[in-house]
Amino acid sequence: MTDRYAVMGHPIAHSLSPRIHAAFAQQTGQDLVYEAIDVPPGAFAEAVARFRAEGGQGLNVTVPHKEAAYRLARRHRPRAEEAGAANTLWWEGESLVADNTDGVGLVRDLTDNLGFAPAGRRILLVGAGGAAQGVVGPLLDLRPAALHIVNRTVARAEHLAARFASRGLPITAGGFDTLAGAPPWDLVVHATAAGLEGAVPPLPPSVIGPQTLAYDMMYRRDGETPFVRWARDQGAARAVDGLGMLVEQAAEAFFLWRGVRPRTRPVLEGLRPPS
Ligand code: ATR
Repeated sequence: MTDRYAVMGHPIAHSLSPRIHAAFAQQTGQDLVYEAIDVPPGAFAEAVARFRAEGGQGLNVTVPHKEAAYRLARRHRPRAEEAGAANTLWWEGESLVADNTDGVGLVRDLTDNLGFAPAGRRILLVGAGGAAQGVVGPLLDLRPAALHIVNRTVARAEHLAARFASRGLPITAGGFDTLAGAPPWDLVVHATAAGLEGAVPPLPPSVIGPQTLAYDMMYRRDGETPFVRWARDQGAARAVDGLGMLVEQAAEAFFLWRGVRPRTRPVLEGLRPPS
C-alpha cells in the first residue's frame, strides 16, 4: 500500500507542499502520496487522529497549528523542544513524534542557496509567534554578532528572547520603537502574519540599508509578498520570499520520514517563475 503523508493548516488550498513532496518522491523513487488538508483552528487533534486511523504515516503542520502539534506529540526531537512548536510529525509505533525543520530550512536557504553567512552579522527578527520561534535557535547557532527580536506585543518578544538567554549569546528584544536610531541590519527576517492581510509591520525604513538582505518567511504563488515589495522599495541589496525555506524545510521533513535526502535545487528551480 502506498504510504500517506499530508500537510495540515488553515488556509491550505494554495500550499505548494504537495507539489514539492511529489517532486521529491519522484526524484528519489519513493512510493508515497501527499495531500493538503484544511483544518480549522481548534480541530487539529481530531484531524490528526482521523488521518492516523486512515493509515497516515506523517504530517507537516503549518499556520495556525504548530504549537498545537507540539503539544499533541508524545516525544519531541531537540529542535522542536527548543522551538516549542512543531512542523513535522510522524508515528513511531503508537507514539507521535515531533520535530521542527523550519530553522534548518531557513539556514540552508540563507547559506546554501543565497550565499549569506550569518556569522558575525547583525540580524533583526520581526515577529515572535510560531514561525519566529522555530528559527531563533538555529540562527543563534551560527554565531551572529547580534540578534534582535521585535514584535507588536512586546512581552511576547521578550519572552522568546528570555528562553535563549541561558546560552549567553547576544540576543535582545523589544517593540518597534526600539529600532529608531540603529544602523541598518545585515539581515532582516520577517516572520509575522501581517502579510496575510496585505500589510507590513510598522518598521522604520532605516532598518534597511544598501547591504541588507531582507528575507520574508512567507511566500505567495501569485507575485511578491508585501514585505518583499516594501524592503525593495527601501533599497535592500536583496529582498527574497520564503520559497527556498519552504523547499528546504520540506526536504528535511522528507529525510526524517523516509531516510533519503532529496536534492532541493531542481525542485526550487521548477517552482520559481522564470524571471
Ligand atoms: P505564526 O505561527 O504565523 O507565527 P502566530 O503565532 O499567530 O502565527 O504569530 C503571528 C505573528 O505575527 C506575531 O508575531 C504577531 O504579533 P503579536 O504577537 O503582537 O500578535 C504578528 N502579527 C500578526 N499580524 C500583525 C500585524 N498586522 N502587524 C504586526 N504584526 C502582526
